[in-house]
Amino acid sequence: MNTRPNHTAHSNHIARSNHVQEARRIAFDVIAAVRESDAYANLLLPTRISRAKLSSADAGLATELTYGTLRMQGYYDRVIALASGRAVDAIDAPILDVLRLGTHQLLSTRVAPHAAVNESVALARTVGSRSATGFCNGVLREITRHTVTEWHDRVLADAAGDDDKLAAIFSHPVWIVRAFRQALAAEGRQSELEELLQADNAAPRVNLVALPGLGEPPTGSEVNHYSPTGFVLGGGDPQRLVEKHHGTIRVQDEGSQLAALALSRARPVEPGERWLDLCAGPGGKAALLAAEARLGGATLVANELVPARAELVRRALAGVPGAVDVWQRDGTSIDEDQAESFDRILLDAPCTGLGALRRRPEARWRKVPRDVAELGRLQAALFDAAVRALKPGGILAYVTCSPHLAESRLAVQDALKRWPNVLEPLETASVLQGASENPLDLAGDPTQAQLWPHRHGTDAMFIALVTKTARADR
Ligand SMILES: C[S@@+](CC[C@H](N)C(=O)[O-])C[C@H]1O[C@@H](n2cnc3c(N)ncnc32)[C@H](O)[C@@H]1O
Repeated sequence: MNTRPNHTAHSNHIARSNHVQEARRIAFDVIAAVRESDAYANLLLPTRISRAKLSSADAGLATELTYGTLRMQGYYDRVIALASGRAVDAIDAPILDVLRLGTHQLLSTRVAPHAAVNESVALARTVGSRSATGFCNGVLREITRHTVTEWHDRVLADAAGDDDKLAAIFSHPVWIVRAFRQALAAEGRQSELEELLQADNAAPRVNLVALPGLGEPPTGSEVNHYSPTGFVLGGGDPQRLVEKHHGTIRVQDEGSQLAALALSRARPVEPGERWLDLCAGPGGKAALLAAEARLGGATLVANELVPARAELVRRALAGVPGAVDVWQRDGTSIDEDQAESFDRILLDAPCTGLGALRRRPEARWRKVPRDVAELGRLQAALFDAAVRALKPGGILAYVTCSPHLAESRLAVQDALKRWPNVLEPLETASVLQGASENPLDLAGDPTQAQLWPHRHGTDAMFIALVTKTARADR
């Protein structure tokens, strides 16, 4: 037997464990920045990963640790409270971050328990006192004393009532569970609630769009089931592909593509039509609309209120030659000099984004019910300005990446009530079916369409097409 130490294997092991430590440290820093300074994990994490020059395997680990911890934070907090016998609010915030990250490793990854505990304790030492470090050690060791199933059952037993149980197990705030239940109930699909909550906790695949007439999916790609313009790469780095194709191939959710296509393909395009994307930043749907407009001989104005986001729109449109204008204006007053000017308008309204929770891991903990009411006023003001800016006979697509009824079905119902002799709903569901490559399972009022992560694999985009039947008096 060879008893000599294998130095190469040993040093490889050390190098590897240093990398894992680095991935863990980056995850910790991002989680702390999300809590302390309202950072967005999906923006900060890639910067940190590239600065640290992590390999793609370590970048994957850092991403899994960060996103997994942030998504499941609600569930882990309940585990930590049970294991420590303390309300999480009573735990120092940086130590709570360490505990959440450690709990994630213990309950949801294959990291060896002793490594998860030891590394977490080492991390705690860098941010907390000796007693806080000891506390952290004790809580994590207590977590290792029970199986994943036992913790699941204990959390479930500790929750009060059906909504709280779902909120606990699927790690969503209770008010969001209720909003989802109501949105599904409006389609007679309340039984899908658990599937939906589960889908929010799974990382989505990177989906791309090939702008029609400008880009082609590379060989070996898997074309989308619904969107005729969408695909998933067979392998390789999507970002590199996007750069290589100068914006004619872009990263875009399949549901967002369908929302833009619902407007551009609602009826054949007449050359010379004027289109408006009223709230265009960062420009994903504007790019697809611009490509569609170019093919049909129409022109597009992409408008955005926030200067930095208007700049993103300009960049997004760089790959589409032709008649596209970017404006930087408040959409609520666009009608002041643009009354009855546009044949088609996309109002992709600012919303809570509850339909894209799987993409933004911390978002569910940031949103509050009050946001819905505040955004509702803005959505209505933008809707009314869009109605005024639409030509009689024109089409308006009201879109949100939120299935919350107040931002979706009810917002449209209210608008139809405000404009009784001016607006009429269109058969949105059949327009979408016409634009889709395969039949979509859509439910509820056919003048509106709600896409879902669990049912369609898309973000939960809401789409309603209306037409203007008469001039709108201001
Ligand atoms: C849901 S996002 C649009 C997403 C975009 N359509 C895309 O696919 O990339 C809503 C946008 O509306 C912008 N916005 C908010 N208030 C606005 C206003 N009063 N006028 C115009 N844009 C506004 C926000 O800055 C945000 O960029």
